[in-house]
Amino acid sequence: MKKFYITTPIYYPSDKLHIGHSYTTVAADAMARFKRMTGYDVMFLTGTDEHGQKIEKKAKENNVTPKEYVDHIVAGIKDLWKLMDISYDDFIRTTDNRHQAIVQKIFTKLYEQGDIYKSEYEGWYCTPCESFWTEHQLEEGNCPDCSRPVELVKEESYFLRLSKYQDRLIEYIKEHPDFIQPKSRQNEMINNFLKPGLEDLCVSRTSFKWGIPVTFDDKHVIYVWIDALSNYISALGYMTDNTEKYEKYWPADVHLVGKEIVRFHTIIWPIMLMALGEPLPKKVFGHGWLIMEGGKMSKSKGNVVDPVVLVNRYGLDALRYFLLREVPFGSDGVFSNESLINRINSDLANDLGNLLSRTVAMIEKYFDGEIPACGELVDLDKELQTLALETPKKVEKLMDELLFSDALAEIWKLVSRCNKYIDETTPWVLAKSEAERPRLGTVMYHLAEGLRFLSVLIAPFMTRTPAQMQNQLGIVPGESTTWESLNEFGHLQAGTSVNRGEIIFPRLDLEKELDALEKLKNAEISKADGSAESKKSEAQDPKDGKIEILPEITIDDFAKIDLRVAKVVGAEKVKKADKLLKLTLDVGGKPRQVVSGIAQNYSPEEMVGKSVIIVANLKPVTLRGIQSEGMILAASNDDGKLVLVTVSEEIESGAQVQ
Ligand code: MSP
Repeated sequence: MKKFYITTPIYYPSDKLHIGHSYTTVAADAMARFKRMTGYDVMFLTGTDEHGQKIEKKAKENNVTPKEYVDHIVAGIKDLWKLMDISYDDFIRTTDNRHQAIVQKIFTKLYEQGDIYKSEYEGWYCTPCESFWTEHQLEEGNCPDCSRPVELVKEESYFLRLSKYQDRLIEYIKEHPDFIQPKSRQNEMINNFLKPGLEDLCVSRTSFKWGIPVTFDDKHVIYVWIDALSNYISALGYMTDNTEKYEKYWPADVHLVGKEIVRFHTIIWPIMLMALGEPLPKKVFGHGWLIMEGGKMSKSKGNVVDPVVLVNRYGLDALRYFLLREVPFGSDGVFSNESLINRINSDLANDLGNLLSRTVAMIEKYFDGEIPACGELVDLDKELQTLALETPKKVEKLMDELLFSDALAEIWKLVSRCNKYIDETTPWVLAKSEAERPRLGTVMYHLAEGLRFLSVLIAPFMTRTPAQMQNQLGIVPGESTTWESLNEFGHLQAGTSVNRGEIIFPRLDLEKELDALEKLKNAEISKADGSAESKKSEAQDPKDGKIEILPEITIDDFAKIDLRVAKVVGAEKVKKADKLLKLTLDVGGKPRQVVSGIAQNYSPEEMVGKSVIIVANLKPVTLRGIQSEGMILAASNDDGKLVLVTVSEEIESGAQVQ
């Protein structure tokens, strides 16, 4: 089986990741999904880069240990990737033992073979970027990358002989034109860094402790970039007893990175690998930045956009689609709330969403909800079929060049073609004549099959919509939802029943949304500007002080829950269970028995006579041998406090709660 190894950078554990961070990961995820669908054995790696002076300082400010500080943030990052359906195969933390041991081995090997040597470093260091700079690289005395002040550091250090490998690297880049992509970044690396000459790199620090110690000289910790870059092979078991994964997946097919860290990935990393005698990654792709109107995305500038807020408001697929479609991957792109809403309205609500709802509605109306058989073809049908069959090939080619936006544009040509096909074939006119019934059937079949194609084509990019579309079209996931099934137009079985469902992308009111987003943004800024005290508590709260709302449900989902008012007529403790009370409830009919975990907050005596709310249609369960027929509602906080939900006025038992 063909293999494909793709990585994202490993993230600094920052308080909150913004949509700019999600950009690299969503792109890598789309690529990983695409490769899996097209028959590859994929290894998709992401993780966190947890060492360094910056983290040590932040942990101190928050009165926690560096490990405590990173642990809660990493948990938040994992939650975010879960929310965004990131299908990573492995998540590596640079604080993992499996990683630290390998970094130490790599460092020692390079030292023993003379590629790392001890000397003294005197120069400038930018802590936020964890980068060393020479005097002439500074811009107006500040870090050339982030414009923040730098510190003069002088310390005994170990150095990596970059200079020794410089010519070999230039040669390699010339011989492998695909190694650094897009091409403009290759020129930048050669002209700005390699041609002026590489200085040996300082690869250890003694002025702080939060790093991986050099095994043979433990007052030194290993420079974070040496530590971080090694993740790409430590995760595969390089230099361990089990190198199976390393042998299978290395060299990586692509490292996806933001443009500001291309130089670490195309200079330091290849030189480390050359020195280790290992092959270089096949490609490093440096994508552009998502910037805000008015500049770089940064919390301090008050323009952070929280992916959680956007996902909760517009749905995951709307955000994933926007990130991948709006900006060509190699270039910078401006993010604005307006561009997001407009994209959702035009491409998702108007084009794709409408196509699906119109098609399903017409199949219901004209064919009692059953997909009709395809009859004789006319040129218009053949044209649609040809485009549908050509689209996967075009997408494959564009994806191989990491041109996500162009691939989506190609798919949307098919969406537009299908919409135009409706206008051209005018099914509502055909429906008026019995003689045109076979023609109407052919038209409907083409639309439904076109939508099947679309539901499969978008699957690498959008994770929820394909199933929603397939469900409405009555398609069961399986043979008809594979990428391979796109080799044939006509997979859909006539006679399949469609199910009209919710509108997949409701149209948004631009003005209203902009207002709402402005308010949300202001709330975010005031939270970011909060006092040191509130920052401290934020750092210690694993959820970052944010309430995480579960995925949206429809009113139909809610209607399935039968909530009733119930009066407690009897209560007693459950033996050998500190937390449980056995309650007898009057819900209007025969009394019910419910076991509830409220014993630490309510005594049996105070329960009797209370009106509570019960989930009346919950499947009965047996707790401690006692049957429980429902669940009573209570609010809880993180400290385990429970407060019963009740009614504000007297109402009869059994009354419905809506
Ligand atoms: N820890 C290093 C990477 C080490 S890899 C061996 C790092 N981490 S980061 O958290 O700062 O950035 C992670 C990724 O997010 C980078 O690829 C970076 O370019 C990307 N982005 C951060 N802000 C971004 C935007 N505003 N827009 C697009 N990508 C951005 O660098």
